[in-house]
Amino acid sequence: MTPDLTKQVLTKTAETVLARRYYLKDRTGEVVETWETLCKRVSNAVAEVDKESKQFEALRESYFRMMYHLDFLPNSPCLMNAGTDIGQLSACFVLPIEDSMDGIFTAIRNGALVHKTGGGTGYSFSRLRSRNASVRSTQGVASGPLSFAAVFDAATETIKQGGKRRGANMGVLRIDHPDIMDFISAKENQDKFNNFNFSVAITDDFMKAVEEGTEYALIEPSTGEVSETLDAKAVFEKIIDLAWHNGEPGVLFIDAANRDNMTPQLGDFEATNPCGEQWLLPYESCNLGSLNLSNFVKNGKVDYKRMGQVVRVATSFLDNVIDCNRFPIPEIEEMTLKTRKIGMGIMGLHDLLIQLGLPYGSEEGRAQAAEIMSYVREKAEERSVELAVEKGAFPAYDAKLNKYPARRNAALTSIQPTGTVSMIADCASGCEPYFSIVMIKNVMDGDRLILVNKHFEQVARREGFYSEKLMAKVADSGTVIGHDEIPVHWQEVFRTAQDVSPEDHIQMQGILQKNGVDSSISKTINLPNSATREEVELSYIMGYKLGCKGLTVYRDGSRDQQVLNTKESA
Ligand code: CDP
Repeated sequence: MTPDLTKQVLTKTAETVLARRYYLKDRTGEVVETWETLCKRVSNAVAEVDKESKQFEALRESYFRMMYHLDFLPNSPCLMNAGTDIGQLSACFVLPIEDSMDGIFTAIRNGALVHKTGGGTGYSFSRLRSRNASVRSTQGVASGPLSFAAVFDAATETIKQGGKRRGANMGVLRIDHPDIMDFISAKENQDKFNNFNFSVAITDDFMKAVEEGTEYALIEPSTGEVSETLDAKAVFEKIIDLAWHNGEPGVLFIDAANRDNMTPQLGDFEATNPCGEQWLLPYESCNLGSLNLSNFVKNGKVDYKRMGQVVRVATSFLDNVIDCNRFPIPEIEEMTLKTRKIGMGIMGLHDLLIQLGLPYGSEEGRAQAAEIMSYVREKAEERSVELAVEKGAFPAYDAKLNKYPARRNAALTSIQPTGTVSMIADCASGCEPYFSIVMIKNVMDGDRLILVNKHFEQVARREGFYSEKLMAKVADSGTVIGHDEIPVHWQEVFRTAQDVSPEDHIQMQGILQKNGVDSSISKTINLPNSATREEVELSYIMGYKLGCKGLTVYRDGSRDQQVLNTKESA
């Protein structure tokens, strides 16, 4: 393969993010890498697995090229740690918490070891006995999942992941746990559990009870006995009320996830990683990567041929990451090597739709997204099946249990938030619409810097409606909608996350889930500030019926500190 010598130019934002968190530094804190040498470090380390193969040089070169040209980027720990002494390359872990002091504090220790290397952890607290349940050894009563979750939270607070990224946790509790009501309200005040996302694991039985207006049973995990029954609808409304209030707790549809468990003989899914896109069994880990869809439009059409080639290369890359990974504890290594899960995702979906002139919230936009996601999965599976022939299927593969042909990886696809890697690639994050099209940055001397989305600027100049005045108006109103200077078609195409209706957000999540996503999807269902609780409820029911495996809603302005804001201050 001939090396592609076209120089890749990164945006200023990308260079800043890379210098701050990704490029290696010397002892004095001086940056000692460039984008090119970082990509070499990572591709060399990942290709090393195949150093005996005749394909070695070609593989190494293709890994380098797809990263260097931003066609595909692996998750942050891989970019940061590949080829270094840390050598831990995965973003996602799920750790079990056994119902004993030893079990709880082992999980805290294991979590700390994961966080230290840049990974995020998901925990289910559902096995822990409820608050006030009896403890035989001390003849006292248990403190319950929430009080232990506070210890996990404090431990995370203390470990700042070498200053590069803070530890992130997902905390899950089943809807039938006796402490569920306390859990639902635990994050009502925003000063607690700040290192956690909390999600309620909702069962099909519970959703049926909501629909039929019946009661459902809470079960004490330590005895298996029914502790009390609750009105399902009232509990559901409480979840909705709090999600409406500030977006927490989220919901996870645990039965939908377990129906897709490829290795049920190894256990059930109890929790996801922190952002919800990856269901994992206890002690499993998973490395992720995202295809930058904005790089695959050529002459107004999707370049499927090149996309397919990159997906195939990226599948081998992610599979190799498993073999050159340095796992934080032996239990994780053992489980991960049994199932060899990878999470191939996408980013820049909105960029691609904009380039094709398709609105995100339209039937055509969704059909296009579904076609691409199915294709990504098809190509990933094609390569994984070939890898199974070359190197062996994942060891837990059992032809009797699996509906898929023998392949190298028990799970192939999931859609990540791509919070930082999409900044490097300069595209919309994951499968989300852009959050803003024109942004104002207040600079020190009182001047306003206007930052315009690159696609919008290009279209506006091409079609002759670009003006500084219009850009300022769009920034001030926070939307392209309703400005007569902008043709209606482009108003539709440039709808932002807040302009897309909640139904269209959910439909996009549902269609992607159904068309090519093995694990799950990290996505926010944005609602306007004026949205009612009933609208949140309808969103949850719609997402459940569409087969989503989890949902996160966010009502604009409902959190004290909104992380993303259309009007950013410097
Ligand atoms: O863009 P990047 O690779 O940094 O990460 P992402 O796609 O935003 O997040 C992917 C996963 O990385 C999350 O679901 C978490 O499991 C993990 N993560 C973490 O542990 N700590 C963070 N601060 C951010 C992400």
